[in-house]
Amino acid sequence: MSLSHLSLKYFRNIEALTLEPVDGVNIIYGANGSGKTSLLEAIYYLSHGKSFRTPKHKSIISHQQSQFIIHGRKTLHDLSIPIGISKSQSGDTQLKIQGKASRKVSDLAQLMPVQVITPESYSLFFGGPKERRKFLDLGLFHVEHEFFYLWQSFNKVLKQRNALLKSKPKNYFDQIKFWDKEFVRLAEQINKLRLAYIARFQSHFFDKMCAELSLIRDINIQFNAGWKDDESLADALEKNFERDSRQGFTSKGPHKADFNFSVDGNSVENIFSRGQLKLLLYALKVTQNSLIELETDKQSILLIDDLPSELGEDTKEKVGQLLSHCRSQIFISSILSESISAVVEPMKRELKMFHVKHGNLITR
Ligand SMILES: Nc1ncnc2c1ncn2[C@@H]1O[C@H](COP(=O)(O)OP(=O)(O)OP(=O)(O)O)[C@@H](O)[C@H]1O
Ligand SMILES: [Mg+2]
Repeated sequence: MSLSHLSLKYFRNIEALTLEPVDGVNIIYGANGSGKTSLLEAIYYLSHGKSFRTPKHKSIISHQQSQFIIHGRKTLHDLSIPIGISKSQSGDTQLKIQGKASRKVSDLAQLMPVQVITPESYSLFFGGPKERRKFLDLGLFHVEHEFFYLWQSFNKVLKQRNALLKSKPKNYFDQIKFWDKEFVRLAEQINKLRLAYIARFQSHFFDKMCAELSLIRDINIQFNAGWKDDESLADALEKNFERDSRQGFTSKGPHKADFNFSVDGNSVENIFSRGQLKLLLYALKVTQNSLIELETDKQSILLIDDLPSELGEDTKEKVGQLLSHCRSQIFISSILSESISAVVEPMKRELKMFHVKHGNLITR
């Protein structure tokens, strides 16, 4: 199911714009400041209910306007689902799915798995655990029905626990002991789903992606649950109680999970070149999209911002080979349309070009 229609109103420098993308590869090109990243940002917003560029919705609404509006249409054969989101200066969000108002961004997100790669992605991803956890949980959100509910429930308990650790009311030790049963129960379920997902992810990654790319052949993926393998979470919580109490937050649990990549025991961050790290990130994102497509009936979307400035010619060709492994609908932004031919050629997908100028589409 691909995004077959997109219309925007008052989104950054875009006053009003309508786009009819193809199922294959959509190239958005135009000069600096024309509105390319903004277009990708809008597609991302339509799925995530937030931007990948800023947490401040006010900086997205066009100057002097009161709100932005994004409309999309997801189409499969004859079936078409209209979706929309708007956000006002005051932060009021309106969501619509098939003409009905909805309050949950997760309903929108379920319909459309969207991942983005920008020139900054690789430093964020390899720079700290947060992006990696987000990546892992996006996959789980789409392939495991219970994951979202478990994650939300767990976060409520975590919040309670942290509030008690901070405020230290009378008997807070007993209260925390009480909460910890639920904390551990939910954490273990989350961990089980993550472990199973990582295992499927790994085999897909090695069988489908690495065979293509000699560069990432001997890579090792290691998962860390957020507490030590050889002890139970209940023990870890008890052992760390004093420290947590001092710091006012919970230091062990699935909210601290992470995974790392190494070659011969060395972290890739320490041995790979920037180009190699970027290629690895592309491979991971493509693996995730194709796994979602394999395990659900959803077609995912991959947004690639500023691709040519990000990669050398050789790497572009490898990225093209990688991308040919997923059925995702792809949006690539670039200043010049020609500079991505090395990526697009090996993909053998339907292609459509969009020229953006001052927030408008130029039709030829
Ligand atoms: N809230 C806003 N209202 C109006 N214009 C805005 C707003 N936010 C950003 N802009 C402008 O929108 C334009 C488009 O920005 P965008 O980042 O999409 O450009 P781009 O085509 O990706 O450029 P580049 O090639 O430099 O990455 C910029 O000129 C920017 O200054
Ligand atoms: Mg840009």
